[in-house]
Amino acid sequence: MPAASHAAAEPADAHAAELAEAAAESFRSVFGAEPEGVWAAPGRVNLIGEHTDYNDGFVMPFALPFYAAAAVSKAEAWEFHSTYGGGSTVRSEHLDGPSGGRVDGWAAYLAGVAWALGESGYPVGPVRIALHSDVPHGAGLSSSAALECAALIALADLYGHRIDRAEAARIAQLAENEYVGAPTGVLDQSASLLCTEGNVMFMDCRDLSRRQVPFDLEPEGLAVLVIDTRAPHRHADGEYGARRADCEEAARRLGVGSLRDAPPGAVLADAPDGDRLNRRMRHVLTENERVLATVRILEGGTVAGIGELLTASHASLRDDYEVSSVELDAAVDAALGAGALGARMTGGGFGGSAIALVEAAAAPKVEAAVLEAAAAAGLPTPRVFTARAAAGAHRVR
Ligand code: GLA
Repeated sequence: MPAASHAAAEPADAHAAELAEAAAESFRSVFGAEPEGVWAAPGRVNLIGEHTDYNDGFVMPFALPFYAAAAVSKAEAWEFHSTYGGGSTVRSEHLDGPSGGRVDGWAAYLAGVAWALGESGYPVGPVRIALHSDVPHGAGLSSSAALECAALIALADLYGHRIDRAEAARIAQLAENEYVGAPTGVLDQSASLLCTEGNVMFMDCRDLSRRQVPFDLEPEGLAVLVIDTRAPHRHADGEYGARRADCEEAARRLGVGSLRDAPPGAVLADAPDGDRLNRRMRHVLTENERVLATVRILEGGTVAGIGELLTASHASLRDDYEVSSVELDAAVDAALGAGALGARMTGGGFGGSAIALVEAAAAPKVEAAVLEAAAAAGLPTPRVFTARAAAGAHRVR
C-alpha cells in the first residue's frame, strides 16, 4: 500500500502476497517452522450508510488494500505472535470463554474468534498464529475486524469447516461483541469478508443480502481520498453504546422491532433531552434513504452525482447523531472548500477517518487544504491517501 501518495497502487493481491510473506517470515523466526498456510483480510471504508448496521439498515463499504495477514499451523497449545509494536507473543494451554481468565489486548481478537467458532458449532483446536498487518491502527479503518477475519478463515480452513461468508461475518461479530466486549454492528466484519475488488458492496444488514456495485472512478476522472485525522478514535467511552441504546429506545417507543421498520419521517411526541431521540432516529432514517439514492446513482453508471449525498450524510452524523469530531469536521470542511464533490466522516466517528470524493486532478489541492486546515487549528497532521476498492479476505497460500 502506498504510504501517502496519489500514485497508482500495486495490485491488491501482490500487496497481500507481500504481507503474507512477512507473516510467514515472522512465523518461521518465532516458531522455527513453515506455516501450513497464510490468510489475509482487509480493512475498509464505508462509502455511506453510517450507524445503520445495528438498526437493520443499509451499508455500502469497500475493502481497502491494507491487510492483516495470518500465517497459521495447527499446534498443541495456542500461541499468538504479532509483529505489531516491535513484536509480542501470547501463549496459552486453554482458551477460556469470555468470562474466564481470558486473553487480552490484540490477542483477544484471535482468541475471541476461536471461541465464537466453537459457540457457533464449528469447534477448532489450538493453532500457532503469526500476524502481520498494515491496516492503520486506531484510524477507524477496521484493523481489528481484519485480524478477526484473517484468523477466522484460517481456523475454518485448517479445521475443515466450510462456512458461508455471511455466517462467518456474524461469527466474527459475536467474537467482537461477546469476547472483546465492543457492542459493534456487523459492518466491519462483513466488509472484510464479503467485499470484492473494484466494487462497493450494498448490503442490507437485516439479512446480509447484498450486491456488488461497480465503483469505477477512473473513467470519470475521479478519486476517493481517505483522510486519517490521526485523532484517537474510540468506542470505549460508551458514546457508541449510548447511540445504540437511543436507537433501541426510539424503536421501542414507536413499537417497532428496529428503526428499519419506522415509518418515513417518524417523530416521537415526547422525546427526551431536547428531542434527542428524534434527531438520532432522523439520522438513521435519512441515512438509509441516502444509501438507496447512492445505489441508484451508481447503478445508473455515474459516480460524481453521489457527492451531495456524502456531504449530507456528514451533516446528519454531525448534527443529528453527534458522532463527528473537531478533526473530522475540519477535514470535511477543508476538502469541500478546496472543491471536493462530497466529503464525510466514515466509520464509527469520534475521531478516525473521513473520505472525500474529488476530481483526480484536484486531489493534491484538496490534500494540501486538509493539511493546512489541521495545522491552522493546531490539530494532528492527517495522513491522506487515495482509496482503491480491494479484494476481500482470502487464502494467499
Ligand atoms: C463502527 C462499528 C460498525 C458500525 C460503524 C458505524 O465501525 O464497528 O459496526 O456501526 O461504526 O457505521
